[in-house]
Amino acid sequence: SRVLVLISGNGSNLQALIDASRANPSTLDASIIHVISNKKAAYGLKRAANAGISSTYHSLLAYKKENPNNPQEARQAYDADLAKLILAQTPDLVVCAGWMHILSPTALEPLKEAGVDIINLHPALPGQFDGANAIERAYEAFQRGEITKTGIMIHHVIAAVDKGAPIIVREIEMIKGESLEDLENRIHAIEHVEIVNGTRMALEERGKNKQTSA
Ligand code: GRF
Repeated sequence: SRVLVLISGNGSNLQALIDASRANPSTLDASIIHVISNKKAAYGLKRAANAGISSTYHSLLAYKKENPNNPQEARQAYDADLAKLILAQTPDLVVCAGWMHILSPTALEPLKEAGVDIINLHPALPGQFDGANAIERAYEAFQRGEITKTGIMIHHVIAAVDKGAPIIVREIEMIKGESLEDLENRIHAIEHVEIVNGTRMALEERGKNKQTSA
């Protein structure tokens, strides 16, 4: 199967997918065919290059310059072209791994019509800390005694941010006195395992759906 990965930063989850797809024996029956980043400096672009995987830097800035007075117009044009960039690679699945740009229906609808599923890794439990800085917000809630656990989920992407149906949910107990950095490291270690499992499960789901729809 053909997996396209969207990134914005370090790309440690992209690296986990690359390593799993190339392990011997492979632990992920797929190839990572292309990487798209919305950030030029994303280290994940270097990881793709090092792995011989083609990549595209898709810059929102360029669209904002084109539409200086209409940010919504800029986002819609950006998302429309993002969908085209993705579909040009004929992926079976799109994985958002550390992707920090909200995908509007303008991006999602063409993928849906083409039968391409899109999943996302979010470092919090369903409905707990949707949106950005989830780990930090969980950490602060723990300091305030509001929660005792957090976790990660892999879910289907819909227009409502981080609200799509979960594929995998993993909980972790929070530890009194633990630093934010240590919590982040524990969470990233779980992400690197579950991003592979979630991708495999989404591909298996797709395989079944294709059979029934065929
Ligand atoms: C991860 O916590 C991911 O869930 C979040 O960004 C962090 C870094 O991901 N969205 P990566 O190292 O860029 O894959």
